[in-house]
Amino acid sequence: MTRSTTRIAHLRAAGVSFVVELRAPLPRVLHWGEDLGELGDDGLASLALSADAASLHSALDEPRQFTVWPTQADGWSGTPAQEGHRAGTATTPRVTMTGAEESPDALVIALRDADAGLDLTLTYRLDPSGVLGVRTRVSAPADAPGPAPYDLAATTALLPLPTRAQEILDFTGKWCRERSPQRGRLAFAGHVREIRRGRPGLDAPHLLTVGVPGFGFRTGEVWALHVGWSGNQRWLAERLPEGAGVHGGVLGGGELLSPGEIRLAPGDSYTSPECCFAWSAEGLDGLAGRFHTMLRSRPGHPSSPRPLTLNTWEAVYFDHRPERLLALADDAAAVGVERLVLDDGWFLGRRDDTAGLGDWTVDPQMWPDGLAPLADRVHGHGMQFGLWVEPEMVNLRSRLAREHPEWILGPSAGLGPSSRHQYVLNVAHEEAFAYLLESLDALVAEYRIDYLKWDHNRELHEAVHRDAHGGDRPGVHAQTRALYRLMDTLRSRRPGLEIESCSSGGGRVDLGVLARTDRVWASDCNDPVERQAIQRWTGQLLPPELIGAHVGGPRSHTTGRVADESFRLITALFGHAGIEDDLTARTPAERETLTRWAALYKEVRGLLHGGRVVRADLDDDATYLHGVVAPDAGAALYCWARTETSVPAQSGRVRLPGLAPGRSYRVRVRTEAGLPSTHQVVAPAWYRTAVNGWVPMAGTVLTGAGLPMPTLNPGQALLIEVAGPDPAN
Ligand code: GLA
Repeated sequence: MTRSTTRIAHLRAAGVSFVVELRAPLPRVLHWGEDLGELGDDGLASLALSADAASLHSALDEPRQFTVWPTQADGWSGTPAQEGHRAGTATTPRVTMTGAEESPDALVIALRDADAGLDLTLTYRLDPSGVLGVRTRVSAPADAPGPAPYDLAATTALLPLPTRAQEILDFTGKWCRERSPQRGRLAFAGHVREIRRGRPGLDAPHLLTVGVPGFGFRTGEVWALHVGWSGNQRWLAERLPEGAGVHGGVLGGGELLSPGEIRLAPGDSYTSPECCFAWSAEGLDGLAGRFHTMLRSRPGHPSSPRPLTLNTWEAVYFDHRPERLLALADDAAAVGVERLVLDDGWFLGRRDDTAGLGDWTVDPQMWPDGLAPLADRVHGHGMQFGLWVEPEMVNLRSRLAREHPEWILGPSAGLGPSSRHQYVLNVAHEEAFAYLLESLDALVAEYRIDYLKWDHNRELHEAVHRDAHGGDRPGVHAQTRALYRLMDTLRSRRPGLEIESCSSGGGRVDLGVLARTDRVWASDCNDPVERQAIQRWTGQLLPPELIGAHVGGPRSHTTGRVADESFRLITALFGHAGIEDDLTARTPAERETLTRWAALYKEVRGLLHGGRVVRADLDDDATYLHGVVAPDAGAALYCWARTETSVPAQSGRVRLPGLAPGRSYRVRVRTEAGLPSTHQVVAPAWYRTAVNGWVPMAGTVLTGAGLPMPTLNPGQALLIEVAGPDPAN
């Protein structure tokens, strides 16, 4: 065997291997995926040998390699790792390694593009969860050649996919239907998503996943990418007939830059967003588990019990009569709410959505005594007080727009069309930034605000601003960095302040914004039929404690569909739960149910917000079986739901995922939120017993044989609790 004489870096964590041969002039990726174990010198040498592909007809005269920085210099005809030019020259990067540092969880490779006069740093960080974070920094050293700056068009983090990865899943959507899955075969040429909305968007790719054909929640080998960035983005899965070196294709992503947006003069640098790559042999649940583990291990991950929330939006909309809101606060406290969030409508001139954005002071007409009476009442009840803001936005009908039109992003030729009657402030403008920071800080201090619902209700179009020479410069990159700086500065000034990321519902759900926020508003849609799907797929990346889930009124405000109370309540339980409804209009019986449900949420949130999310692969698309299993598999809570009717009369035996087959369990139906109506004469035997108390069950029956589920009527859900055997027996 020919031994590799070059150093090979092998990062391993949680069943994942990432192997790079650090050879000159450019390292190549030998493997990303399944853990290859403790490879000795012989093992590494054989892996390097196996990474040499055949030479093909009508192709390069030497075998193609898949390097860490694929470009045409390697004969790579796919999307390159680097695109750019220096005044029309230096368009073909010829990048070589100048150094590499390896630690157990990271590999940092220093590269030099001599032609363009750039230094690059490529950082791979393998998290203990097995998620591989890839980031690039491009610097123009102080002695960079020539007077022209290097115009960076793109950097794309690329990792290889094997040939067997042929089926692709990603997401699209619209207002009130975020994260709608789209699935198909990964064709040659590939699948590219370019996001030009200045936010990930309601149709964000969310998690671009490629796997072996037929992969499901519980089975199948899958490779996935998330671009952790809140601005414009590019995501791709690409297959070329000649492959990618010895590999079958690539998964890649990065920021989508506008022409001329990043121009690197001597001394300047650009840092890409972090692209998170994950692999699993255990289907989509395996991927979700890795991301949830990674997010939960962050020092800033919310650690206090997630407070039951009441948000005022669907309760009162713009009707901010203080006495109405004080009564709502009293009723909220009575049912067990722990945080009240005053939504849109409280600030200067805000009677509807046509005016006021930008003027972040309390409206004296609506609130003659300020917000203190409400904030004090909320705090007096022992609840936290939250406030809605939309700092990056401005209505032309506002004092701010009149006084500072120069802070609005838009071309010198004039503003384009408004969207929800609003425009976008240039947060990167130092004075606008200072204004927003001081306004928010003053509100937080004055009203002892515990929580901001930080909204962002329009896309960024023509997001340019005038530069010193009067030209219009693209601004989405700077805007995104400025947003992060604004949030970071506010949080460092006000430790303990929590922030929710909302963007017309779930239009800004990404790991960039989540590095400085505490939850996302998954969707403006509280209809449980839609919510089952939205929460399922939002949970593909985020653990339940980061996903806002509210119970609305009987008739959904956004779909018009009427849903039973128990279905609404059970659906909202599987997230960071809340209420978005006018409690003052609810009957005593409805309030009693809400109070029981609130107590149930507090009882089970430790499990729901710390356990493993599991989702069953079912043949019937009208049904859902999902749950959360304790880390030691000793307890679990499952939701069995039906959204519409289907042909099979029996739901059949359904296996409960995530439990330990060798253990003994007990099962019962939780009834606090109410019981579902069913489409059968008599329910299965176990169910009839379990609605009244515990039923002992062998683990193998639950995991292997399965429980026959009642056939629910459409728009119904059932809550099943699993615990260890009764210690008294
Ligand atoms: C957006 C949000 C809603 C609500 C309104 C207020 O649409 O997604 O939850 O806060 O704004 O205007």
